Amino acid sequence: KMLEKFCAEEPRPGCDTVFVNCNVATMKEGEGVAYGMIADGVVGIKDGEIKFVGKRGEGDADAVVEGAEDVKDLEGRLVTPGLIDCHTHVIYGGNRSKEWELKLKGASYEEVAKAGGGIVNTVKGTREGSVASLVAEAAPRLKSMLSEGVTTIEIKSGYGLEEEAERKMLQAATLVEKDFGVKVQKTFLGAHAVPVEYTGRDDEYMEECIRMMRSLNAEGIVDAVDCFTESIGFTVVQTEKLFTAAKELGLKLRLHGDQLNDFGCGALASKFSALSCDHCEYCGEEAIDKMAEGGTVAVLLPTANYFISEKKLPDVAYMRTKKVDMALGTNCNPGSSPCCSLLLVMNMACTRFRMSPEEALRGVTLSAAKAIGLQEEIGSLEAGKKADLCVWDASEPAELSYYMGLNLLKECYVDGVLRK
Ligand code: NIG
Repeated sequence: KMLEKFCAEEPRPGCDTVFVNCNVATMKEGEGVAYGMIADGVVGIKDGEIKFVGKRGEGDADAVVEGAEDVKDLEGRLVTPGLIDCHTHVIYGGNRSKEWELKLKGASYEEVAKAGGGIVNTVKGTREGSVASLVAEAAPRLKSMLSEGVTTIEIKSGYGLEEEAERKMLQAATLVEKDFGVKVQKTFLGAHAVPVEYTGRDDEYMEECIRMMRSLNAEGIVDAVDCFTESIGFTVVQTEKLFTAAKELGLKLRLHGDQLNDFGCGALASKFSALSCDHCEYCGEEAIDKMAEGGTVAVLLPTANYFISEKKLPDVAYMRTKKVDMALGTNCNPGSSPCCSLLLVMNMACTRFRMSPEEALRGVTLSAAKAIGLQEEIGSLEAGKKADLCVWDASEPAELSYYMGLNLLKECYVDGVLRK
């Protein structure tokens, strides 16, 4: 019996670095305690992975501290998982602030798009840019996002709308991962708008999108595929065509859905086992039921809702009842959300969408990880996951969504390495 017990015991984890004297918002699921919080916590990491998370004085915690090479006293600070921005269009060329001035004089987002403005405007600037200039233009936006503890970011293409320019965007996203110390998920969004050269031939453009997707995927620069299913984007039938072809390639699916109209996108996303349906302002109860059944994440984008003065809000209360995961993103883009602050998004998710601060933090950690299909690796602080974590000059996790324009980040670690 003694021998069996001895063999069954996990060896005590040896750690290079151990954080002590901190409150750890693990965001681990099913802990039965708000934020999965461990007061007076201990987090041990080795070789870029989390090896131990526990409470000082309990279980192996003290032994882990004693055996560590480097013990960091966080003096009572808050530790959270690294933040994940799961929906961005941060790479693009040009500037649309003039168009915004127009909108302020009364034109709606849809009207500006129909009058030849909007997404196709940014296409010109993006096609003219090089990979290096696209990265340089995105750099200030990225730096702002990273300064707030973003350790993983999703970046979409979709302002090229032709193979070479879409490739440049995805190559720029690849460079971001190399140069900025952030993990990048690359999403092909060729189906973002119909480019002017295909006006009136949107079915043909969808065929071209499918061809581009196959070609770029073969180059290994695509992680997921997205589609803008909307009156100013693509129809449900066109989306189904794209998704069917993407599934054959084994690509992850995302969907810009029900942002301005109800096209039943929650159900569409669920039908194709898409990871997420994003925006969701016009998702009805039936669509939300389908999302719950299919485990589709609702990615909510409060700064876009605010910036385009959309009156309709996503049905957060019903999503909550149905236990649909609600993730959050900046949707950083030049048209509907020139937002470079995930902390501001958290604040607006609470004030505008009535999410709780705990839901907001889950929205940029574990639920965001689910929206990009990486929940086995990142999104919560638990043994076996990557050591992506943030240390905050905060005593309460609610402070992260409470302030507007105050960045409490003290330190940020990506794969266990302190980001300078
Ligand atoms: O997520 N909805 C589609 N795409 C962006 C808008 C992009 C743009 O206007 O340039 C969005 O809101």
